[in-house]
Amino acid sequence: MATYVQTVDLDRLASVDEREALICEVQRGLIARPRSLSPWMFYDAEGSRLFERITTLPEYYPTRTERTILAGNADAIVACAHNDRSLPLRFVELGAGTASKTCLLLEAALRISDDVAYVPVDVCSSALELACQNVACALPEVRMRPIIRNYVTDPLELESFDGTTLALYLGSSIGNFAPDEARQILSDLRAQLQAGDALLLGTDMVKDEPTLLAAYDDSEGVTAAFNLNVLHRLNRELGANFDAACFRHRVLWNRTEARIEMHLESMQEQDVSIEKANIDLHFMRHETIHTENSYKFTDRRIGSLLRETGFEMRGNWKDSQGWCAVTLSTCR
Ligand code: AVJ
Repeated sequence: MATYVQTVDLDRLASVDEREALICEVQRGLIARPRSLSPWMFYDAEGSRLFERITTLPEYYPTRTERTILAGNADAIVACAHNDRSLPLRFVELGAGTASKTCLLLEAALRISDDVAYVPVDVCSSALELACQNVACALPEVRMRPIIRNYVTDPLELESFDGTTLALYLGSSIGNFAPDEARQILSDLRAQLQAGDALLLGTDMVKDEPTLLAAYDDSEGVTAAFNLNVLHRLNRELGANFDAACFRHRVLWNRTEARIEMHLESMQEQDVSIEKANIDLHFMRHETIHTENSYKFTDRRIGSLLRETGFEMRGNWKDSQGWCAVTLSTCR
């Protein structure tokens, strides 16, 4: 039987494989040309803290826009996902972070059911801890079962559940993945769900270039610090000797691929070694590390992504400017 817990020492549960995954990714990405690192590497405790700051910046519209959509439509969304109200409802959130928007949906669920469970999944234990505190405080009747997991390197395995599961994948986290990887993630998720279960997917839409660029290159430099933190993390955790002052945050809009790209550019020729990964790197001046893609969507792309991964669209909600979308689909 599943044990649901309200408070947990998540650090003790933190995956012992995390160091392994870091080493593996560094050996793959930094030796390859062009050099790249996977965006999950951003989210150590410091990176998650910086991301939370990003979500409150005036230039970073996605978080507040999605929150507005959820605030205005939470009841409709939950009703659409949960048509048999006699069944318990379980929310499973991929990349839950601090779950700042999730309470809107959990509250709506509690208005129609008294049996609501929440399973937040995240790679960052400190963010999850905040998520659990937030929910336990605001909605003590929700049963919680947090999972620390890198769902990119280590696909999720869900316990079977006697009720309806609503998977949440919000904040356009799906935008971090190229189309084939995005399909893989949603197919893996679909395989963990049953007929009648649902997925709520949050996506950031294609829009004018200045708005997009500003969102990833804010005037306070918080996004730059978030990007550079990846180098500090390698120094802290893998004994690397990156001089972060010799790298610059670079952002571009790749129109053909419909994605924002973030890079770190080496401002001079330099050598770096990463002790615990046993690698020595030589950077040329202007050489870059590609640290993130953030794909932007169109209605068509959302539709085909869901169809191709075994979901059927049931509802779609946007803000008045059409900047972000939240799409509910059920398992076919
Ligand atoms: C959490 C992946 C949705 O792509 O907008 C924010 C991460 N990167 N600023 C995004 C991010 C730079 C964010 N996601």
